[in-house]
Amino acid sequence: MTDLTSLDTLETPAAVVDLDRMERNLDTAASYAAEHGLALRPHVKTHKSPRIASAQLARGAAGLTCATPFEAEVMATVSDDLLLAYPPVGAARAERIAALPANVRVTVALDSVQAVDEIGHAARAAERTVGVYVELDVGMHRVGVPALEDALALASRVNAVRGLELAGVAFYPGHVRESVDEQDAALRRLGDGLDRALSRFKAAGLSVPVVSGGSTPTLWRTHELPGVTEFRPGTYVYNDRTTAAIGACAWEDCALSVLATVVSTAVPGQAVIDAGTKALGREPVRGADGEGFGQLLEHPEVIVARMSEEHGVLDLSRSDWRPVVGERVRVIPNHVCIVVHLNDLVYGVRGDAVETSWPVAARGRGQQAV
Ligand SMILES: Cc1ncc(COP(=O)(O)O)c(C=O)c1O
Repeated sequence: MTDLTSLDTLETPAAVVDLDRMERNLDTAASYAAEHGLALRPHVKTHKSPRIASAQLARGAAGLTCATPFEAEVMATVSDDLLLAYPPVGAARAERIAALPANVRVTVALDSVQAVDEIGHAARAAERTVGVYVELDVGMHRVGVPALEDALALASRVNAVRGLELAGVAFYPGHVRESVDEQDAALRRLGDGLDRALSRFKAAGLSVPVVSGGSTPTLWRTHELPGVTEFRPGTYVYNDRTTAAIGACAWEDCALSVLATVVSTAVPGQAVIDAGTKALGREPVRGADGEGFGQLLEHPEVIVARMSEEHGVLDLSRSDWRPVVGERVRVIPNHVCIVVHLNDLVYGVRGDAVETSWPVAARGRGQQAV
């Protein structure tokens, strides 16, 4: 049996988390939430792991955010307060959400009459109450009701449907991707929009106990947004090259890397590692300059310039470092959430010692076979 207690002997490619860095990331966000009186409801799409969710809850997280029914089912084993921040559309999705254990407080975010009716129907069939956040479009133009009149009408409909309870409003500032120190104008616009929305809800006599927003790029400025009571960052637990590039974390806060082995140096000027698209994804750096698909932890001047499914080509043109075949490297990926979801298992390390591992238990869809 291979000794699995050292980074030198782990089979590659492997997703490796620096536990000191991850714990620091969790502590810092928890302190920020406490300092500003905000409820932290981390999005589990980044880690998909009850073990890490428990570490977030132990540090004071108010509940968890999920995107898929399977994430919610897996997270129901560790939390009794779950938000599906995804439209509960389609009978199968709505029924799975309504079938979560009875002790779990379930809330969904939605933006359509169809979603209200489907989740209402599923809630009544399951004899439970589901909370609803009306999703507002505050500039991302992905989901969310853009017109306030329509948002108010949807909120009133939620109030009228048996089995549902208006729990608040939600928004996702995914369009704010500029450097943290260049976000002023975007956050001002966002804040003004929220202000307008909340005033209209109030004038209409609609109670909005929760205003749920937040992302990792805007994490440290959440308190500047008027009315926000809850924030849902996901990426912050591990961070990634994109998060560091926009200044929402330091390079030293990137906790997850892909451990890879140099498998070829035959072509001059480059080295090939055993991490390609099936280990790193093919995600761009968004919101900042950054070529390639990852950057080496120990040699940040080296990027993964090209990939095939199982090959990653390191561009050595800006480096004096010349790796040999068999040497190991650690790649900080552009987008960590995609990388985690490509792995069954994540290894936790301190220094070079592999201390633990945990399954990515909520990866995939948890669909039933026929
Ligand atoms: C609805 C919603 N909320 C929260 C998040 C978490 O944001 P981030 O990945 O920036 O941490 C996401 C990310 O995709 C999201 O889609």
